[in-house]
Amino acid sequence: MAFGLFKKSEKKQEASNPHYRELTIKKIIQETKDAVTLVFEQPASGKLNYKSGQFLTLIATVDGKEVRRSYSLCSSPFIDQDLMVMVKRVDNGLMSNWLPDHLKVGDKVKVLEPLGNFTTEYSKEKKRHLVLFAGGSGITPMISILKSLITQEPDSICSLIYANRDIDSIIFKNELEHWQTQYEGRVHVIHILDNAPMNWQGYSGLLNKDMLAKLFERIPSWGLDNTTYLMCGPEGMMKNVETLLGDLQIPKEKIFKESFVSGTIDKEKKEESKAATASGNTAHEVTIRYDGQEYKFVVEPNRAILETALDLGIDLPYSCQSGLCTACRGKALSGKVKLDEEEGLSQSERAEGYVLTCVGHPMSDDVVIEIG
Ligand SMILES: Cc1cc2nc3c(=O)[nH]c(=O)nc-3n(C[C@H](O)[C@H](O)[C@H](O)COP(=O)(O)OP(=O)(O)OC[C@H]3O[C@@H](n4cnc5c(N)ncnc54)[C@H](O)[C@@H]3O)c2cc1C
Ligand code: FES
Repeated sequence: MAFGLFKKSEKKQEASNPHYRELTIKKIIQETKDAVTLVFEQPASGKLNYKSGQFLTLIATVDGKEVRRSYSLCSSPFIDQDLMVMVKRVDNGLMSNWLPDHLKVGDKVKVLEPLGNFTTEYSKEKKRHLVLFAGGSGITPMISILKSLITQEPDSICSLIYANRDIDSIIFKNELEHWQTQYEGRVHVIHILDNAPMNWQGYSGLLNKDMLAKLFERIPSWGLDNTTYLMCGPEGMMKNVETLLGDLQIPKEKIFKESFVSGTIDKEKKEESKAATASGNTAHEVTIRYDGQEYKFVVEPNRAILETALDLGIDLPYSCQSGLCTACRGKALSGKVKLDEEEGLSQSERAEGYVLTCVGHPMSDDVVIEIG
């Protein structure tokens, strides 16, 4: 295997790598039975800047192995002094159980700088309606966006449709009520529960066409030009909302989504495409430009570019390793790259040549990718 220009000694030392920071836990808030908010102090060494909708990558050593996971910031850079992420336990999940079980106030957590493109620019001149669909832990980027929109754009409004299992699993329930009361008429929160109690006044069951029509009657209608739809939640919910919005002739360009978990619905199709990539391909050399360094290495047909780089000790940025979070995003300046999973990239990003190294395979020998 030829490694070209790459030498292992070139690996950046993490301590001096500006992309990593250490954050101290100031507070841990138990939001629901299975969800906690980790409140981090802004580091004294220099504020960590971020945008609403971005995520932090938390890095921990679990059972002797480094584990990274992405967590969307639920704080707003405009109004919250601290950095906050909310972690909801996943059944048998490694990190989502380790974090609440092991962390305590005063602990330091290694993080990768905030990343992600599920963002928008705020301006007090804008007048728009953001309709947010959230499910379970998918509330995190939404509450940050809601707080930023409502405080930074006096003429804009926000409607949140938030689906949960039952009343006790509604995360940030009181905080959402607070925003709705404080910004009455500009913030609309509608809850949907799978299992509603007898006296429940809101909606329950699966969101369908009739329910959506009723929900839309309860929120202001500002017309297509001024309305944008955002969604974040379980895959099934997002597919459902996308279909329902499509049925209402809402163009795809008006709909933005953030996925927390790699899709299972199209899993078979993705596995087939991965196998086809491996069988019809040969090993190819890639060149990666990152942080003023150039790395050249060969990627075998059944391996992803990031996976190969990490094995060689090249410290490239990454988080989810499943094509969702875009932490590993780079721009292909030349050559052909095939992605197993394209969920994380928008159509325009793909058209501009952006690729995800964690799910990317070089299909020609002239692939040059610039990261950052
Ligand atoms: C951009 C981005 C932002 C995210 N933001 C948040 C956030 O704000 N809060 C939060 O709690 N999580 C968030 N996540 C999910 C988070 O990164 C982890 O995937 C999650 O905590 C599970 O990690 P784990 O190590 O416990 O589970 P793993 O050990 O990695 O997985 C165990 C099993 O659970 C499944 N699984 C993983 N995640 C989920 C999920 N969310 N729901 C249901 N099943 C799942 C896996 O497919 C696997 O089968 C985000 C993910 C991404 C990509
Ligand atoms: S590491 Fe998350 S998309 Fe590649």
